[in-house]
Amino acid sequence: MARLREFLESDPVHPVAEYAADDWVAARLAQAGVQFERWPVQALAAGDSATVLASYADAIHQVQQQFGYSTVDVVSLTPDHPDRIALREKFLFEHTHSADEVRYFVAGGGLFNLHVADRVLEIRAEAGDFLRLPAGIKHWFDMGTTPHFIAIRFFHDASGWVAAPTGAKLAADFPSYVAHAAPSAKVA
Ligand SMILES: [Fe+2]
Repeated sequence: MARLREFLESDPVHPVAEYAADDWVAARLAQAGVQFERWPVQALAAGDSATVLASYADAIHQVQQQFGYSTVDVVSLTPDHPDRIALREKFLFEHTHSADEVRYFVAGGGLFNLHVADRVLEIRAEAGDFLRLPAGIKHWFDMGTTPHFIAIRFFHDASGWVAAPTGAKLAADFPSYVAHAAPSAKVA
């Protein structure tokens, strides 16, 4: 299955391009100002924040050194989370941030959609993906109805995470996230 699909904003049904290879995904996203990297996925003894942060300490340090993100945390959602419907809605509309949105997927996945000029770039994020969306880029995120992911987040400061809605209604028309049958979690 394609990791990245490119649509015209006017046609959410028929992709105009699909990219499967990591190098092609990275190259297309770079044109949109988005950094995409694949990091080696670590087998975790547990999914708690301390274990996750310790397991990726070197990579986290490198990102912080390079871009100056002062804050790092871990967000973890499970399919039985009592607030999963509300949490999904919180990110399921087109918005921007005044700061970069930076994620590394430790386990599980979700669907990022970037609205760039007249295109929508749909990224199927999965374990091992590092994504750095620049401040101001229009996007939304769908974690699906049964969310399953652990992600490391990087911030300059927590206030940058406030979402500013664009008012566009594209998110309702484009495909929703449906996880693979077998989750890619490596948490023991
Ligand atoms: Fe966002």
